[in-house]
Amino acid sequence: MFGKRIGDLSKGVFFAAKVLSKVEESGSSIRNILFKEYFKRRVEDYKLLNQALHFTLETTRRLNFVDHVIKTVLPKVFDEDFPSVIKNLLRISTYQIVFLKEKPEDIADILKPIILKKVRKNNKIIKEEIFTYIFKVRSLVKKEKMISEANGLEKLAFTTFHPKWMCKYFVDLLGLEDAEKLLRNNNRKKPSWLRVNTLLTNRQNVASILREEGVIVEFDKDFPDVLRVIEEEKKPVTLSNPYKEGLIFIQDKASCAVAHVLNAKPEDFVIDLCAAPGMKTTHIAQTMKNMGLVLATDINCYRAKMIKMNMKRSGVSNVEILCTDGKILELKLGKKVDKILVDAPCSGSGTFQTHPEEKWRLTPNKIKKYALLQESLLSSAVNLVKVGGQIVFSTCSLFPEEGEEIVTKICNEYPVEVVEKGVRGGKAVKNGWRFYPPETKGFFMSKMRKYAEHKS
Ligand SMILES: C[S@@+](CC[C@H](N)C(=O)[O-])C[C@H]1O[C@@H](n2cnc3c(N)ncnc32)[C@H](O)[C@@H]1O
Repeated sequence: MFGKRIGDLSKGVFFAAKVLSKVEESGSSIRNILFKEYFKRRVEDYKLLNQALHFTLETTRRLNFVDHVIKTVLPKVFDEDFPSVIKNLLRISTYQIVFLKEKPEDIADILKPIILKKVRKNNKIIKEEIFTYIFKVRSLVKKEKMISEANGLEKLAFTTFHPKWMCKYFVDLLGLEDAEKLLRNNNRKKPSWLRVNTLLTNRQNVASILREEGVIVEFDKDFPDVLRVIEEEKKPVTLSNPYKEGLIFIQDKASCAVAHVLNAKPEDFVIDLCAAPGMKTTHIAQTMKNMGLVLATDINCYRAKMIKMNMKRSGVSNVEILCTDGKILELKLGKKVDKILVDAPCSGSGTFQTHPEEKWRLTPNKIKKYALLQESLLSSAVNLVKVGGQIVFSTCSLFPEEGEEIVTKICNEYPVEVVEKGVRGGKAVKNGWRFYPPETKGFFMSKMRKYAEHKS
């Protein structure tokens, strides 16, 4: 029985280590690589998928601490010529020993078959060093001692698992107590949310089909087409029939709020300026009862094709897709739009719960670059909308530079004003609303109205 558990874990740990190496090499996301590699196998093994998801996400979430432990005991792991898969195996093992309190002998048993197969026969030194590390790491490194020896921002970085610069940023912004709470919440599991496709069904119907298939959901109190997943007993919701048939979309509650805030009507002409892969586009189409017109634009032509796929899945037909740069979009015949959504590219700092790899890649400079892009996309939106028309601006970012501050700049420069001061489920902040982890992803949203023609 125990041997079987070790054998299963060996497979899960090795798969996870390979995924982490590919994530590092490609700069892509853990979930992207993990699902790609999983489906390549063509063997449905839900347990393996869950194990790999757990090891990749939880190790990466704590990467600063895990790497600090390894650097203290076996620094050569970070040499350029050290095999990347073995480095990631050691990262996962460190997570298991230090955080899950697994016994070193069990971890050694998990690693043995992998190391024997994967480390070149003649590389005896590496093999020995790996096992010495596994047996010694617990006695050489005491987590609590390491944390108590750290001070100030380093301590916050070790206890909340965030880069030091980010800890400083949030302490300056919110004060220590609230910053710590926010950073800790970034590590907590987020509920799964579903958006019901009301063009094809209703919440009640979907909830009862899902229950029959072993997925338990509850109605969200704030939005009439949102469900919260309570339990995925037998299978993940992505393998359920309502998902396969386009009756539901996996979409965070905060992101579902956007179409409700935009509140497009069946007779409206709407632009979704940064639309791919089309989650919000199809939701907007849904609130318009599949009438009127939505022009969905995106600079990335490959991603723009995904809008088409999502339209097909959801039975949406009132959307035109255009692959173009939203900063320079001009409409023929001088036609102006009633409503426009700018769901802008951003740092993704609101999604660290599901994409922990991003917090180690982000730099203050990247945030500045995103903020400039957001500002110019929003200026373009102001020119496209008619006088009296409305603009919704949103980002899945926790940084005011990608939210409140952009709106202030736009309102100072153009004849636009912030309208509406609250949305259900969100917290009112300067110029808009915010949603926070752990309930939803971190998200900013603002609604503006153009009150006069802009004279440049
Ligand atoms: C946050 S994602 C949009 C998600 C989408 N609204 C949804 O709900 O499915 C941002 C998108 O902006 C696109 N983008 C980046 N720069 C752009 C630009 N200059 N013009 C138009 N789209 C852009 C990206 O390709 C990406 O698809």
